[in-house]
Amino acid sequence: MTDTIYTYAVPCLFGVEGLAADELKRMNMQNVRAENGRVLFDGPAADLARANVNLATGERVTILAGEGAADTFDMLFELVRAIPWERYLPKNASFPVTGHALSSKLHSVPDCQKIIKKAISKRLTEVYKVERHPEDGAEYKVRFTILNDNAALSIDTTGAGLHKRGYRPAALRDGVATVAAPLSETLAAAMVRVARFRGREALRDPFCGSGTIAIEAALAALNRAPGCNRKFTAQTWTNLPQSVWQAAREEAKAKEFHGDYDIWGGDIDPACVEVANENARRAGVSQNVRFEVADARSFAPNAPSGVVITNPPYGERVMERSEAERLYREFGAATKELRDWKIYLLSSHTEFERNFGRTANKKRKLYNGMIKCDLFMYN
Ligand SMILES: C[S@@+](CC[C@H](N)C(=O)[O-])C[C@H]1O[C@@H](n2cnc3c(N)ncnc32)[C@H](O)[C@@H]1O
Repeated sequence: MTDTIYTYAVPCLFGVEGLAADELKRMNMQNVRAENGRVLFDGPAADLARANVNLATGERVTILAGEGAADTFDMLFELVRAIPWERYLPKNASFPVTGHALSSKLHSVPDCQKIIKKAISKRLTEVYKVERHPEDGAEYKVRFTILNDNAALSIDTTGAGLHKRGYRPAALRDGVATVAAPLSETLAAAMVRVARFRGREALRDPFCGSGTIAIEAALAALNRAPGCNRKFTAQTWTNLPQSVWQAAREEAKAKEFHGDYDIWGGDIDPACVEVANENARRAGVSQNVRFEVADARSFAPNAPSGVVITNPPYGERVMERSEAERLYREFGAATKELRDWKIYLLSSHTEFERNFGRTANKKRKLYNGMIKCDLFMYN
């Protein structure tokens, strides 16, 4: 795989595409182009390792194998069979097929799955001149998206999504406190980047929950690649040399900064503060962030200037709407006199500004899972 130039597709949360494109440009990737819900770029196989290790805001890195119109099963079959799968999949590759279809004539996902699987098998048995494809080798996950009668076929290189940095346990077990409504790591990283935080100023998250924003801010300040310590699916591929991963990690390590940062998170719930401290320790940033029990209604930043990046309860999942409104009013009053502070606050509450008491200078639409939110900016 090493000499070929591939096209990669990075699916992104809606609203984050431009930020992921900026990150890829800073990595010197070629032909970076942001589209709705994804960013494309071109490069050799080594770039798939670099993108996986370094990207903070994308959801995963896939190789875009092919795309085209498909509004009948025959068209889908022919489209898939024409793709040179042998460029990516070795003779014994196992290739589970998953995907989704939206606003298209082909809407049955299990049927599309079967057709795609059949077409890839046909192509590979013909090219490799075998009767049956054994599928007893490394896994190459094929993903399809059919949108408006257009099918895109890609191969996942990431595995567990890029938001899984490894510092937040997937499920908190018995005896360990749970945090209501934690933010995805990629969304927190996006908020930190919208605020252009690089560690030069003080950062405060007065509704820190499990500490995701403060931890992502610390990673950004340290210029630490979020994927440095985790494994990716493509590491098991036999046709991709291990050296590309080692090189990507070494390149990232060499770009890390070291400094003193003023990053603080507070939460009214002591159990959240405990979880945030644990997460920071796992992320290797305990030295760079502080968490403590504090009530945001009497927020005092203890620094002359800086940036507040925060995600208060919305009144949907964590508390009732009227309670959220009262909290916004009280937090608005507590931050009213902070003239030299920029505030970036994520909420899905449609009446947020009215309750907070100030109209944002700018707003940016972001999705927290399925919840449509605004990032309210006071800067
Ligand atoms: C939406 S969650 C924040 C999730 C966080 N961004 C994360 O990634 O885990 C809101 C948090 O606000 C906290 N909270 C509610 N009222 C508060 C108050 N008056 N002062 C400080 N924290 C409060 C809750 O305990 C909860 O952890």
